[in-house]
Amino acid sequence: MNKDNNLTNSEIEVLDLEETPSTPKKKKKPIIKFENVVKEYHTGEVYTRALNGINFTIYEGDIVIFLGTSGAGKSTALNLLGGLDQATSGRIFVDGDDITKYNENKMLEYRRAKVGYIFQFYNLIQTLTAKDNVELVLELCKKKKKSNAEYLLEQVGLKDRINNYPSQLSGGEQQRVSIARALAKEPRILFADEPTGALDYNTTRQVLELLVKTCKEKNITLIIVTHNNFITPIADVVYSFRSGEIISKVENNNPTPVGELPW
Ligand SMILES: Nc1ncnc2c1ncn2[C@@H]1O[C@H](COP(=O)(O)OP(=O)(O)OP(=O)(O)O)[C@@H](O)[C@H]1O
Ligand SMILES: [Mg+2]
Repeated sequence: MNKDNNLTNSEIEVLDLEETPSTPKKKKKPIIKFENVVKEYHTGEVYTRALNGINFTIYEGDIVIFLGTSGAGKSTALNLLGGLDQATSGRIFVDGDDITKYNENKMLEYRRAKVGYIFQFYNLIQTLTAKDNVELVLELCKKKKKSNAEYLLEQVGLKDRINNYPSQLSGGEQQRVSIARALAKEPRILFADEPTGALDYNTTRQVLELLVKTCKEKNITLIIVTHNNFITPIADVVYSFRSGEIISKVENNNPTPVGELPW
C-alpha cells in the first residue's frame, strides 16, 4: 500500500467468490465468509438496501478494516457478523457454521463465546467501576481461568484506575476499559466500530497500538470499521464500502506498525 492511499491497479482486486488467502506465502485459514448478503430496512414508508449482496472472506488472525463514507453499510455488515441484527438474505459463515441459521440460544452462545465488540461510545455501565464492568463479562462467560479483571485492566494501562466509575475516566481511558472488557472473553473475533471516533490523535494511537498488539499476540481476528483513511496502512486487508457494496479490496503484505504512521 503506498503512503498517499492512491491505489495502484495491482493493489485493487476485482472481487469474486474465488478469493485467494491474503498472504499466499503462509496459508491462512478462512474464519468468516459472506455470501451474497443482503440487508434491507423498512422504516414506515422508507426502504433502505443497506447491503446489496456482498461477498468476502476474512482469514484468521488478520487485521481487517472496513472503510467507507457515512451510510455505506459498514456497521450493518459488522452488526450482522456480531449477531446484533439479521440478514435479509444470503449466508454468513463463521468457522464454517452458517450463523444466519442459528436459533436464539445458539446466537446467544455465539455472541458470548466467540465475539467481542468495541463501540464508538464505549457502552460501559455507568453505575459500575472499571473493574466491575470487566468482571461482569468474566462472570457471564464463566471464564475464571487465567484472566481476571485487575490483570486485564493492568494490561491496558489502567492499574491505578480500576475502582473509578466511567464518569471519572477520560474518553481514552473509557475506551481502554471497553477493550479490556472485550478481551476478557478471549474472543476469536473482535469487532471495533469506530473505536477511536471520539478520541484525540494521541489517544487514538495508544488505543490502536493496544488493539493491534493484543490481537496479533492472541491470534484474534480484528475488524475495525472506520471512515478514516489515515489508519488503513496498519491493516492486512482493507475493504472499501460504498452504497451497500464492496468496491475494492486492498491487501497489504507489509502492514505499517501503528507507531510508524505519520501522526
Ligand atoms: N436500524 C435501521 N433502520 C433503518 N435504516 C437503517 C438502520 N440501520 C442502518 N440503516 C440505513 O442503512 C444504511 C447503512 O447504514 P450503516 O449504519 O451500515 O452505515 P455506516 O457505513 O456504518 O455509516 P457511518 O459511517 O455513518 O456509521 C444507511 O442508509 C442507514 O440509514
Ligand atoms: Mg457506522
